[in-house]
Parts: sequence; C-alpha cells; structure tokens
Amino acid sequence: GNLYVGVDLGGTNIKVGICDETGKLLHSYEGPTGTDEGAESIIAKIEEYVRKLVADASLSLDQVVGIGAGVAGFLDIPNGIVLSSPNIPAWHNVPLKQILEERFNKPVIINNDANVAALGEAWGGAGAGISNLVCYTLGTGVGGGIIIDGKIHQGFSGMGGELGHMQVVPDLEAIVCGCGQTGCLETVSSATGIVRMAKDAVGRGDKTSLQLLEQITAKDVFDAAKAGDEAAIRIVNRAAYYLGRSLSMLAVIVNPQRFILGGGVSRAGEILFEPIREIFSQYTPAPAREGVDIVPAMLGNDAGMVGAAGLLRQL
Ligand code: BGC
Ligand code: NA
Ligand code: ZN
Repeated sequence: GNLYVGVDLGGTNIKVGICDETGKLLHSYEGPTGTDEGAESIIAKIEEYVRKLVADASLSLDQVVGIGAGVAGFLDIPNGIVLSSPNIPAWHNVPLKQILEERFNKPVIINNDANVAALGEAWGGAGAGISNLVCYTLGTGVGGGIIIDGKIHQGFSGMGGELGHMQVVPDLEAIVCGCGQTGCLETVSSATGIVRMAKDAVGRGDKTSLQLLEQITAKDVFDAAKAGDEAAIRIVNRAAYYLGRSLSMLAVIVNPQRFILGGGVSRAGEILFEPIREIFSQYTPAPAREGVDIVPAMLGNDAGMVGAAGLLRQL
C-alpha cells in the first residue's frame, strides 16, 4: 500500500509521522522546533527528523509517496509559501514547499496546521464519516479548519479557516493580536489569551487563588475555575463566550454538522464545553443548530501528522 509522511510544524515541536492509506499512523518521531534559531534552522530540523523517522522505520524515502506538512501560520497555499506566523516570528515569506521538494526530491504539499488537523480528525478522528465540519485547535494560538464535502476549504489564497483571527471582541475591550489586528478570537480564547487574562486579574488585585502561583498556565486557570475560584470562572467563561459566538457565526456561514474542539485548552473538558454549548444555542437560529454537535477532538497530538499525510491523498 501507499505510505505518506506527515509533518506537523508547530512553534514548540516538530512532529513527523508515517501513515498508511487508511490514515493509520505507523511510526512517528518528535523533536524541538528551535523557533528562536530562525527559519533556516527549522527547515534543517524538518529534514533531520524526517530522515531519522524513515530510517528508524527501516524504510527508504523511495517507499513514500510524498511529504505533507501542516504549518502554524499564514500561508500562500497555492504557491507553497509561508507568509508569516502570529506565533513563530522566524517565518517570513519562506518558499517552504519548494525548499523541501529540493531537499527530499519528493512531492511536498503544505497547508495550515489547523486545516490539516481538521483533515486528520475528518479522516480518522472525531469527524470520521462526517463531510462538513469545523475544527478549532485551541493552543498557543487559535487555529481553525473548515472541511466542506470532505475537503479543506482554504479559499482564494489560503487564508480560509483562519478562525483565530475573527474579530469578535468589541473595540473598547480589544487588545492587539500577534497578527497585528485587534480583537481577534485568539486574544481571548487561546492558552496565551487565558494566561494573559489571569495575569491581568492578579495585577488588578482580584481575589483569586491564582495570586499564589509564580507562573500561571492555562491549565492552572481551568483547575482554579473547577475548584470554584470566581475570577478564574469569569476568565473561562469569557474565553468560552467568544468561542461560542464564533461557532454561531460559522453555523450560518458553513452550516457544519459538527464542531470539533482540539488543542491543549480543549482538554479542560466540560467546564469549557458547557458554556460554549450554551452560548451556541442561545445565538444560533434553530435550523443551523439542530442536529449539530460540539465535541472534543479525538486524535490529540497525532491529528496534525495524520492530516498532513492525508494532504497527499487529496492530490
Ligand atoms: C495562526 C494559525 C494557526 C494557529 C494555531 C494562529 O495564530 O494564525 O495559522 O493555525 O495559530 O497554530
Ligand atoms: Na486554518
Ligand atoms: Zn489576530
């Protein structure tokens, strides 16, 4: 059968995997991205990790159809160029597809990390058997992937599905996003946004157990909320509110059958999903919400690799 290599290129780690044509992940390898070392070094790491993966699997590159890569950031997908990345400053107009094709002498397809995660979930995860879905990845940034009729919707130049940069926060409360705009969903519903709101609360002197922590993570905020900390509950509800509102908008634009929420933040579970479902049902016209569900992602850390490998099947 056909074998595909999938690369998940994130700000912190690069994950590489080999999948068969059913989307089963056969081998994988993971190493640091080294974001601060610049684009050239990141590309060298991709090459190193893929070669190591293939060798560890006792295969040769000749046996794989090609390499798919999901990249966190704004892409010109038709031309295979990484334009910029709100959370990886090293990327600036890098012709990644061409560079990797030269290094590996194989067909390479690049796409957005969250588009690819959505494809992975649609292929063999929480979206299996569903052809219209919207997937969010809630991590350092907020990523999005829209699958229509089983295919990624990437739009005219590749910016389709950049859900983290929907303008949802009213101007008076908006802050600047890594993309340069203000009021993006990412500023309130990413792990980074949640941590920022927690630090603001502590800075303002709000009464909260988060005060006692030296360093606050998004998980700390969810744990505090679960323990009944009111300031933490307000932060979680704010993150959920804007997410829920954005789901409502997508419901009447895309009309997906399912919303899938993945990424580290989604592991918070019901404390996050419950308010999202509530907001969603409050703001969405019944015909766009009936029969529609909001579920956690299933593939976890593998979604990116599996989906990236799946790009080659879309050829
Ligand atoms: C970027 C997206 C990416 C997401 C998750 C956002 O800041 O704009 O391209 O998918 O982070 O990595
Ligand atoms: Na996307
Ligand atoms: Zn933004």
